[in-house]
Amino acid sequence: MREITFERKNIRVLVGKTAEECAEFAAAFVTAQMAGQKAFKLGLATGSTPVLLYRELIKKNQAGEIDFSGVNTYNLDEYYPIDPKDAQSFREFMEENLFRHVNLPPENIHIPCGNAPDGKEEAKRYEKELCDIGGVDLQVLGIGSDGHVGFNEPDSIFPYETHTTALTEQTIRDNSRFFESEDQVPRNAITMGCGAIMRAKKCILIATGKNKAQAIHDAILADPAPSCQASVLQFHQDTVFVLDEDAASLL
Ligand code: PGA
Repeated sequence: MREITFERKNIRVLVGKTAEECAEFAAAFVTAQMAGQKAFKLGLATGSTPVLLYRELIKKNQAGEIDFSGVNTYNLDEYYPIDPKDAQSFREFMEENLFRHVNLPPENIHIPCGNAPDGKEEAKRYEKELCDIGGVDLQVLGIGSDGHVGFNEPDSIFPYETHTTALTEQTIRDNSRFFESEDQVPRNAITMGCGAIMRAKKCILIATGKNKAQAIHDAILADPAPSCQASVLQFHQDTVFVLDEDAASLL
């Protein structure tokens, strides 16, 4: 991995040649953070990008190199409304790509409930849970091509608390690849706000592909602004960006 250095010491940028190299680095990073910790709090993300990381974590768990038995996981977001058992829900995505394959106790999984009767109440409940733990030890993040983190979409503010939100046209288009058609993409979501993300002791944001290059540029080099929600990480105490050459191409 090649490191790009900036004056801002809180942000580290590591660039790998391929998405696979990035995933291997990220898996080693997560493993190192978890090593020797009995009650680790791990923030997780969905999307195509972390799938390779999760595959590496599964391999490490099966090889006995990483133990999830005392870990609690906290996912960033969930569509709303959606049945958690629906194949397209983030809950099911996590089951498929990580949870089912590692020794993580099911009761240690935390994610907004997509079919709670009242989305706003569910957001409040999740926010309380996140406040009570006082911040995860490590938050895994992706980034949208519009700069979103979680479902914090371009806005005039950095939303602080967990909240319900309408997906932007761009995100609906981007996520339609997981559905049979664009019409089937849920229009709303429950997402951690920037407050819970900023309380994480460390963040690792992974981005690969040319379609992320502008968002990565704006997140790291532009003045922080809620039009690129990921730029809030410029104020975070300890964030590492793991990028492939394409995502890093505008830095
Ligand atoms: P992606 O999504 O990994 O599927 O590109 C990232 C995100 O929306 O955060």
